[in-house]
Amino acid sequence: MEAMNPTTPSGCLCEDVDPILDRYGRDQGLLVSILQDIQEKYRYLPKEALERVSAALDVPMAQVYAVATFFKAFSLKPRGRHVVQVCMGTACHVRGAPLIRDKLERDLGVKNGETAADLSVTLESVNCVGACALGPVVVLDDEVQGHVTLTKVDALVKKVRS
Ligand code: FES
Repeated sequence: MEAMNPTTPSGCLCEDVDPILDRYGRDQGLLVSILQDIQEKYRYLPKEALERVSAALDVPMAQVYAVATFFKAFSLKPRGRHVVQVCMGTACHVRGAPLIRDKLERDLGVKNGETAADLSVTLESVNCVGACALGPVVVLDDEVQGHVTLTKVDALVKKVRS
């Protein structure tokens, strides 16, 4: 994966963001796609990148933020190289999701909703991911893991650490 370059000396991120803006013809109507590509590059939406988008598209920052916060797929905080999501929907909840989440917090050393200081992993709770029959469900880097047990958590943690 490409190394992260969180800020240039000026804090602009222009070198990284401008090619993305150009790819979409700096079209205001393609703001979501532009933000998706920025999120893919950094794994989150750095403030400096949003400022660049706002200036380049001539869209108010408030509007850029409104879009960035509307979609759950976007994050305004740095995310880890691995993202572990525990489904806390009803079906998963009654099948032990809270215990799974507690163990993941302990074993990964990161609280729910937070990212490890070394940016190795982000742990978060999500609502139903549409695989209720497989509950409890954990999504590791977009891959659905079904029928997760406390033993299976050990294997998941190993995968994250490897
Ligand atoms: S409640 Fe977890 S997948 Fe539906």
